[in-house]
Amino acid sequence: MSHCHNHSLNQVDPEIFSLIGKEEERQSNHLELIASENIASLAVREAMQSVLTDKYAEGYPGKRYYGGCKIADEVENLAIARLKKLYGSEHANVQPHSGSQANMAVYFSFVNPGDKVLAMDLSHGGHLTHGSRVNFSGKFYDIIPYGVDPKTEMIDYDLLESLANEHKPRMIVSGGSAYSRKIDFERIQSIAKRINAIHWCDMAHYSGLIAAKEYPNPVPFADVVTSTTHKSIRGPRGGMILCKEEFAKKIDKQIFPGIQGGPLMHVIAAKAVCFHEASQESFKSYQIQVKKNASALSKVLNDGGVRIVSGGTDSHLFLADMKSIGFTGHQAQELLDSVQMTTNKNTIPFDTEKPTITSGIRIGSPALTTRGMKEVEMEIIGNWMLSLFKDPESTDLKRRIIREINDLCEKFPLPSLLLS
Ligand SMILES: Cc1ncc(COP(=O)(O)O)c(C=O)c1O
Repeated sequence: MSHCHNHSLNQVDPEIFSLIGKEEERQSNHLELIASENIASLAVREAMQSVLTDKYAEGYPGKRYYGGCKIADEVENLAIARLKKLYGSEHANVQPHSGSQANMAVYFSFVNPGDKVLAMDLSHGGHLTHGSRVNFSGKFYDIIPYGVDPKTEMIDYDLLESLANEHKPRMIVSGGSAYSRKIDFERIQSIAKRINAIHWCDMAHYSGLIAAKEYPNPVPFADVVTSTTHKSIRGPRGGMILCKEEFAKKIDKQIFPGIQGGPLMHVIAAKAVCFHEASQESFKSYQIQVKKNASALSKVLNDGGVRIVSGGTDSHLFLADMKSIGFTGHQAQELLDSVQMTTNKNTIPFDTEKPTITSGIRIGSPALTTRGMKEVEMEIIGNWMLSLFKDPESTDLKRRIIREINDLCEKFPLPSLLLS
């Protein structure tokens, strides 16, 4: 055995050890408000650092291309069974390495290059893989964007229906990255059915809320559903696909051998742990609090004069229109960054700014809720933001906020640190 094999990370690679320590420190003393991030449990992380990382298991349980896969089969079967039960799905694939790869498998399964696909406009809340020009989806397929109503800033289902009838796309995409309201999956399904299109839902942002029955479940109404496993559902970084039995073979074949090789068995084990955690009562209470916290924070900002896109939220996230108080999204993100509050600039519907500038910021509650924060803390955080927006040049104010954020973060520590 190589001489390094039994030594700790600290001994083998002090540089990486130190950088991980710094990242742990950053996560500990910053307020994480990025809607797509969360804090995985120690159990999820333990599964990810297990010996399963060493195993090649190309193929699927019972049909592998390598020997020695008995345990790998049991791990993957457990992950699949738990996932199907969680969402009431007929079939599940837990192998996608990421949300984008899950989505790529859907395109490759149901549409051909040049085919029409109806998807939510990126600036209205869609995702890169829903047809952005710089992504494979926008390059290979003829994307027709739908969006939100300019007044309500909620999905314009009448427009979606008329676009579907006019263009007869092969596939309609529901779901997105920055849409805070409930989505009427049943209505989208009926529109798709009438024109014989596939209805694909990308529930990446909402999958934790959905597992806890705190957001509408698309599974009964969509032919295929994809998700990441690391956002509101709080698992390891990765992807998953749920579909009706009739599409099972097609989807499985597109993931492997279509676009991936060997599955990440350690990550699949961690996904299984995540699905187990997501089926517990405590996960339901967590998701209820996630929604309460997002609402509470959006209300404080709204009361302080910041316009909230669509006037509120039904989920874990919301968009704040920073132009309503004289900032671009970019400026607001930088300002918040300077006091250890992490958000991301985000276009808002009908934005006139470039994606690198934007008019809005996206704010989400999953990570802070995992740390145990509630409405009281959201009010404190919202008020810090408002005072900073009122007096962005004051270094005294920034110093005070940072001090108070450090105190708050100490009161709500991260679940467990690897290197402490
Ligand atoms: C709706 C949606 N789909 C897919 C993805 C892509 O996931 P990944 O970053 O794992 O490729 C994201 C991630 O931001 C997302 O928000």
